[in-house]
Amino acid sequence: ISLENQNLLDASGWVTKLYHHLLRYTKDGKEGYQYFHDRGITDDTIDVFQLGFAPNVKDFTAEFLQKKGFHQQILVKAGLLSLNEDNTITDRFRGRVMFPIRNHLGKTIAFGGRTISDQEPKYLNSPESDLFQKGRILYNFDLAKKHIRKQSEAVLFEGYMDVISAYQAGVKNAVATLGTSLTESQARLLRRYVDTVIICYDADKPGTDAAYKAAGMLQKAGCEVKIGNMREDMDPDDFIKEFGAEAFQHQVIKSSLTFTSFYMRYLKKNYNLSLEGDRIHYIEKLLEHLATIESSVEREYYLKEVSDSYNVSMDSLIQEIQANREKMA
Ligand code: GTP
Ligand code: MN
Ligand code: MN
Ligand code: MN
Ligand code: MN
Repeated sequence: ISLENQNLLDASGWVTKLYHHLLRYTKDGKEGYQYFHDRGITDDTIDVFQLGFAPNVKDFTAEFLQKKGFHQQILVKAGLLSLNEDNTITDRFRGRVMFPIRNHLGKTIAFGGRTISDQEPKYLNSPESDLFQKGRILYNFDLAKKHIRKQSEAVLFEGYMDVISAYQAGVKNAVATLGTSLTESQARLLRRYVDTVIICYDADKPGTDAAYKAAGMLQKAGCEVKIGNMREDMDPDDFIKEFGAEAFQHQVIKSSLTFTSFYMRYLKKNYNLSLEGDRIHYIEKLLEHLATIESSVEREYYLKEVSDSYNVSMDSLIQEIQANREKMA
């Protein structure tokens, strides 16, 4: 590790402590504490994730780090300070609750900061650096690792708050991508530790689109994929807040869907199934997917469902599937 990177890590470490201390024990951090409190986050959880608060002051962090002897240049590079258009240097994060992003050794390498007052953007992240490449890291992987390994299963979320709520609800094998789609490198990282990944993204259109893409990546990396059985209109954190830990564990995680079940529902949204033409196209498209399933038992299971739902004979479905499979071969 270069001297510069070591400096970057040291500065991020100090700032993690600073923001956390502020939030937990001081009047300057009270708003941040209140914010997490209102979202149902306990003191223990705040400590485990080292959650913090960056006050709405333009040089609070700058002054603190200068006193510690860090050079401004390094701090700008670390994304803790910003170089403005008028050449002044100010704190990057202001008036935000802070989520330290840790590497696999538990060291802070970046931050996500959420506004508590409707500033744009809602989440501000550190810029990428030598130490922080968001496509190569999963939020909370360091803490989740031992649970992931033990269960040979990981739960993949969209957001920091989803991971933190899940943790509080007893789901500790929880990680998240950092506001971008899952990368091949993240998929490979997971594959080294698990057989199965449960994708538990937001149940809205962007979330289900992203889940579909992530599923493809994970399958390509060799993982079995399941999809959390989230209620429409909600994200995992909302669900836990409304229905509690028990319901989350049983109705969402333990009841997660197979990829094919998810795909059947997902695909449906592109068609108007009250139209005969659409219905046929939907079934044809579905059969293309079902044809890729290796297990004949599994194939038949879903074919039966299609046959029953759309009143198409098993014979013709099996015929079509065979044709599809021959095309593939
Ligand atoms: P809450 O509103 O705090 O519950 O956040 P959320 O996690 O539900 O947010 P959302 O579903 O909108 O986004 C999921 C994740 O995407 C967040 O946790 C962030 O990592 C990221 N994200 C969301 N909004 C932004 C943004 O404006 N900028 C950036 N860089 N990332 C974002
Ligand atoms: Mn603490
Ligand atoms: Mn979302
Ligand atoms: Mn969300
Ligand atoms: Mn949310």
